[in-house]
This record gives sequence, C-alpha cells and structure tokens, in this order.
Amino acid sequence: MLTIEAEKAGPYNRSAWLYGTRGPCEPTGLFPSRPFRMILLGAPGSGKGTQADMLRHRLEVCPLSTGDMFRAAKDIPEEKHGPALREALAYMRRGELVPDETVVALVSERLACIRCRYGFLLDGFPRTVAQAEALEKILHAERIPLDAVIQLDMPLEEAVARLGGRRTCSICKATFHLAHKPPKVSGICDRCGGELYHREDDRPESARVRLTEYERGTAPLVSYYAKKGLLLPVAAAGPPEEVFEKTLKLLEDQIVRAAATAERSLV
Ligand code: AP5
Ligand code: MG
Repeated sequence: MLTIEAEKAGPYNRSAWLYGTRGPCEPTGLFPSRPFRMILLGAPGSGKGTQADMLRHRLEVCPLSTGDMFRAAKDIPEEKHGPALREALAYMRRGELVPDETVVALVSERLACIRCRYGFLLDGFPRTVAQAEALEKILHAERIPLDAVIQLDMPLEEAVARLGGRRTCSICKATFHLAHKPPKVSGICDRCGGELYHREDDRPESARVRLTEYERGTAPLVSYYAKKGLLLPVAAAGPPEEVFEKTLKLLEDQIVRAAATAERSLV
C-alpha cells in the first residue's frame, strides 16, 4: 500500500526510509555531483519539514524524518515491520517515549539511506546527545563526513501557534498552514490531491509536552554541534522563503570554510 502511495508522492520516493531494509528506492535521475549530508535541528513547529522540502529541491538531497517513519508505520502491514520498528511501536502504544537504543537501531536498519549517493538531510534525528553520539559512530565507521547542522531557532510560543494551524497531507506528507500557507482548496493537498489532516500531536496540550521534551532532551545538541564547528543557527521567524535563503547562504559559507580547512591540512 505504501509503495503505491509513495509513487503518488512523486519523484522523491522515500519508501526505503519508511519501510526499512525492505523498501524499494529508485534513483530519480543523475546523482548530484556533490552530495550534502546534514541535520535539521529545531523545536516542534520550527519549520524543519518545511525547510527540508525546499532544501531537497535545491540541493537534491533526500530528507529523512524519524517522525514520518513512525507515522508511516501504521500503514505498513505488521509482518513487514523490522525488529526495531516493532519495538518502537510497542513503546508508543504504551504511551512511552521511544528509547535512544531503539531509535538508533531503526536508523541502523536503514544504513542504505545514510550511504545514499543523494546524501541525506536528517529531520528529527538525532534528538538526544546519546543519539548524536551513536550517529557519529555510524558515520565514522562508514567514513561519511557530516557537512552541517542547521538549527532553526524560534520562540516556543510561536511554535505552538504554528502547530495549531498545521495541516499535513495523508499521502505525500506535504505540510500547509491555515494562515501562513493555506491549500488552494480547503482540506486538499495542492501537490497530490490527498486529504489534509491535523496531526494528533499538534493539539495545544500535546504540542506543549513536545516542546518541554525538546528543551530537556534536544536543546543540549545545540552546544554539542557548536563545539564541533558544525552548527549553523538560523532565525526561523519570517516567511519560509526568507528562512530558506538565509540557510543557503550559511551553508555556502560553511562549505567554503570546510574546503579551505581541508586545503590547509594538505599543505
Ligand atoms: P516529528 O514529526 O519529527 O515532530 P517534531 O520534531 O516535533 O517536528 P514537527 O514535525 O512537529 O515540526 P517541524 O519543525 O517539522 O515544522 P513544520 O515544517 O511542519 O516527531 C514526532 C514525534 O515522533 C516526536 O514527538 C517523538 O515522540 C517521536 N520521534 C521522532 N523522532 C524521534 C527520535 N529521533 N527519537 C525519539 N522519538 C522520536 O512547520 C510547522 C507549521 O508551521 C506548518 O504548518 C508550516 O506550514 C508552518 N511554517 C513553517 N515554516 C513557517 C514560516 N517560516 N512562517 C510561517 N509558518 C511556517
Ligand atoms: Mg516535521
């Protein structure tokens, strides 16, 4: 079922990420000359999904969201779930947070996506310092360098307001906002005609719990990646296109800086 839906979702077929090892993944054209490997960091509602969508078109990078993976799991027949996904869903059914080891196991089941010649844009992973350390080990073992960690920075109250107005496509997962980015036809996705829905965890009570969890568990990643010289903080208020342009500029500077450092280390 998901394969058909992924086909309807257009050229960026992420079913390998959503399915795990069993997912098909077809190259969508020529591989980019320079694959980008990046992480998107930011509170719920800060615009990670929105920016991921814009970045994938510009940089031909494959966006991989752990949140999307969990939400897609309910459409995948249980016998097709890998062991880590089965374990994660059991935690979620009990209303518990999915532990770091399980999330890391889920990502490890999808190593092909990490190795992909389109590069990757991780959205929602890593979410804790323990997950970041595990990712570092994976990348080190694979000899894959990380280019940048884009941190979308915004006041938490604004994030709650954004989540209240968000609507998500049930098929291609595109996001809309009732005030900032309304669909052309109410309740219908502009891109694929899918039905739009309000995510269960976007209700104000759930959104606040997620924001508190972000402050506790994920915000420490800001200093973690700053110390590694990878952090690119971007003010996430303002129209999405403006945030996007600022992000591209910072990325360009970061790539030039990294290239200069590599050259210096050769002489
Ligand atoms: P996940 O789906 O990753 O949720 P999240 O991190 O809370 O982020 P969101 O998707 O809610 O927000 P976003 O930043 O993508 O914002 P968006 O672009 O849509 O994870 C869900 C859950 O899964 C987690 O709570 C956790 O339980 C679990 N999970 C996931 N990963 C995990 C992990 N690694 N470990 C353990 N558990 C994990 O934008 C929001 C709205 O604002 C949209 O309506 C959009 O149109 C609008 N908008 C965006 N940008 C702008 C702008 N510049 N101006 C105006 N409006 C804007
Ligand atoms: Mg998102």
